[in-house]
Amino acid sequence: MKAIIAAGGHGTRLRPITYTLNKHLFPIANKPMIFYALEKIKETGIKEVAININEGDKEIRKVLGEGKKWGLKITYLEQKGGALGVAHVVKNAETWLSGSDLLFYLGDNIVLGSLEELVEKFKREKLDCLLALSKVLDPERFGVPVIKNGKIIKVEEKPKKPKSNYAVTGIYIYSNKVIEAVKNIKKSDRGELEISDAHTYLIEQGAKVGYKKITGWWKDTGKPEDLLEGNGLVLSGILQSKIEGILDKEARIEGKVIIGKGTKIGKGVLIRGPVAIGKNCEIENSSIEPYTAIADNCKIKGTEIHHSIVCEGSCIVDCSKRITDSLIGRNCLISSENSSKPSGHRLIIGDNAQVEL
Ligand code: DAU
Repeated sequence: MKAIIAAGGHGTRLRPITYTLNKHLFPIANKPMIFYALEKIKETGIKEVAININEGDKEIRKVLGEGKKWGLKITYLEQKGGALGVAHVVKNAETWLSGSDLLFYLGDNIVLGSLEELVEKFKREKLDCLLALSKVLDPERFGVPVIKNGKIIKVEEKPKKPKSNYAVTGIYIYSNKVIEAVKNIKKSDRGELEISDAHTYLIEQGAKVGYKKITGWWKDTGKPEDLLEGNGLVLSGILQSKIEGILDKEARIEGKVIIGKGTKIGKGVLIRGPVAIGKNCEIENSSIEPYTAIADNCKIKGTEIHHSIVCEGSCIVDCSKRITDSLIGRNCLISSENSSKPSGHRLIIGDNAQVEL
């Protein structure tokens, strides 16, 4: 069995962050999101992985390289002609797959728990397609299975009136029959080859399509609030504090906390875990509240921050109001409106930013 991770697309719902950073490299608990997919795939024993990237993308190759870090052999497949749909990703990989079974993983999905059980079920039941289902409150955002007498009879993509409260998650296992399916479906109204249509095609052709309900946590990180939830959940899994930075004797630490090398935690700091702070940061007179991840080389001074993600190289100084539920990109500067004259909100904000003052 080989694996493909879909890491193309434009992450439009995460703009402006995704103007300059591929969404699959956005940090969740200080680790690029796509690392979690690679770790899960490695656990199944699969050795060969193809990453589907946008045409001309160099960023993902640069970060993941040949996959040695994970003991995997990574190949990059450029999706020519744009993001033509999730099923198009599979179609694009026909030659590389050369008849193998496939674990297909949408790179913006995060799961806690192992994929090994899924792989075992697929093999044990000699299936052509195994879908991982998760109960959700908003099925209309996903591929939704229509289940009758315990069997999936159809999968509908983002239906207005969902026929079940399950989402087909972005983790799929296929025999090579999937290639016939992705070659025989037509573009949807939104102009994409839909993976749900490939699943319905397989069912209609009498292929063996099974499913397994994921009982652990699963998230499609399409929207900012999903990234924050994913970040919080991964941070909650910190079992033991690891403090490699330098702590002032007056700094207070509560709960599980990770602090990287070279980071200085100065006077008047309260950190309440779960929190992760990267390397070479400076934190002073601040309160770092639960479910916050601060990446390398950041400065936080005179600020209270909660349930947020701060990316590399950003600086937050003297904010009079608590920062909460926020995504802050790389090399941002956030300071008090009173720090220089004339006073007032002074904003340099890119397209599609969201600010609450
Ligand atoms: O997350 C689960 C859902 O993923 C499923 O329930 C849906 O059936 C499935 O269609 C998909 O829906 P999304 O709307 O979430 O798909 P999205 O466009 O966000 O793309 C999913 C991933 O695949 C994301 O990591 C980007 C990547 N992608 C997407 C397209 C359209 C590609 O690499 N190439 C593409 O052409």
